[in-house]
Amino acid sequence: MSETKRATWGSSATFILAAVGSAVGLGNAWRFPNLAAKHGGGAFLLVYIIAMLIIGIPLLMMEISIGRKMRSGAPGALRRMNKKFEPIGWAATTNAFVIVTYYAVVFAWVIMMAIFSFKFVNMTGNNEAASGLWATLIKTTGTIKGFDTVSLPVILCLLVAWGLIYYCIRNGTSSVGKVIKYLVFLPVVCLGFMAIKGATMPGAMQGLAAFFIPDFSALSNPMLWVDAIGQVFYSMSVMMAIMIAYGSFLDDDSNVARDGMIIAFSDLAVSLLSGIVMFTTMYGTGLQDMLAQKSGPGLAFGVYPTAIVNLSKSGVFNAIFAFVFYFCLCTLAIDSAFSLVEGISTAFSDKFGTDKKKTTITLCVIAGAISLVYTTGAGLAVLDIVDNWCNSFTLILIGVLETIAIGCFFKTGKVVKEINRNSKKFKMPRVWFDIAVKFVAPVSLTVLFVWNIIDLFKNKGGIYGAADGYNLTSNILAGWLVFALCLVSGFVIPRFKGKNKQAETEETWED
Ligand code: PHE
Repeated sequence: MSETKRATWGSSATFILAAVGSAVGLGNAWRFPNLAAKHGGGAFLLVYIIAMLIIGIPLLMMEISIGRKMRSGAPGALRRMNKKFEPIGWAATTNAFVIVTYYAVVFAWVIMMAIFSFKFVNMTGNNEAASGLWATLIKTTGTIKGFDTVSLPVILCLLVAWGLIYYCIRNGTSSVGKVIKYLVFLPVVCLGFMAIKGATMPGAMQGLAAFFIPDFSALSNPMLWVDAIGQVFYSMSVMMAIMIAYGSFLDDDSNVARDGMIIAFSDLAVSLLSGIVMFTTMYGTGLQDMLAQKSGPGLAFGVYPTAIVNLSKSGVFNAIFAFVFYFCLCTLAIDSAFSLVEGISTAFSDKFGTDKKKTTITLCVIAGAISLVYTTGAGLAVLDIVDNWCNSFTLILIGVLETIAIGCFFKTGKVVKEINRNSKKFKMPRVWFDIAVKFVAPVSLTVLFVWNIIDLFKNKGGIYGAADGYNLTSNILAGWLVFALCLVSGFVIPRFKGKNKQAETEETWED
């Protein structure tokens, strides 16, 4: 590695598209509209935008710039800033690994639904058949039982999903560069098509009003603030070992301040567009109450099919719409999924000097084998638990640690300088950055972490998903243990001596 030149993106447009592709994902389509529906529409949008400006953008620019400066994946880049920071990078990398094992399965589900969308032809007005399609196909028991049954369609689609993920990143930045423009623009085209259909439905105006007009009384609900900060964090793919790795492939003359702004606002734009699609179609089909109740897979696979079969009297049109919707989700999911693998394989090949391609294949095979767990009858429940811990606990804690490390134990002035190095017009102001990284981010993320713990123990009796029959053992194995594994990996992996001398040498951040 020390002799061979590090791969680069080829152009700043490729980098921006790849980062947008990672940030814009299923969360924009099925988490953002649900939160907006829950928290007073425009009031949520307002807080979301404020949180994005205050916390999201500085953190995004910070990660990209330290990747570029240190020329290494997350653990290596953090290590070169300060040896003690390396565990945070590995914890983030392991968390990304856990996430990709189930994100690939969700990707497989959307592939499967796109394939089976022809079934909607004969389901016009049949709410029960529509809402049950996915659950039948994945053969879920709805709870933590049923490890002895598997869904063949899901396994086949999972194979396709991993094949596609590998195909896109087989040659790192150069193969990503070839596919990324399609993967970023296709979902926008699909969303545009659905927004036009949605906007021409009766009730669409009410939907748009509910989405955009703020209900300011919602601002007094602390959950709105908690959810907005959590969503900004999740949506921008920070603290996942991704943006540091992506930044490490940047040319030295790239403009981090400008690119960070473009990435953040593109992510917001897609969230708004999918909000318009969700609100107009749900109001247009009279299902608006469900929008606030369901998020994630439950919304896209359980509730949304009901909206689809009520869109028009033509079964063929509804089926085409269903295909466009699930195809759109495929294009949203794939670049987020492969960004996770790319972040992990960069971390490993930088540290151990392993061949990047071999590392990527090995990762895909191991993660692919683990992801089979989620194709069983209990898979949905396990996925639900793992996802809850990864996003509500591990990710947030890593955010707290990384911002404290850099905000309090590193000179933030150096980072700001690096962010603004090639920027002439827009520069990230030092105060803005300092307030975000030293204060607002660590404090609000700590509050979020503590809030989630209190919520689990006080409101849920210590067991996540008890109402769905999940028990303490399942929470310990799929939740706490996975959480502990990520933290422990942070301390264990740095103990292995890296083969790559360059990555091991302490390179201090020189101006
Ligand atoms: N940012 C993605 C989204 O909004 C989520 C994500 C990206 C999750 C990458 C994991 C990895 O959906």
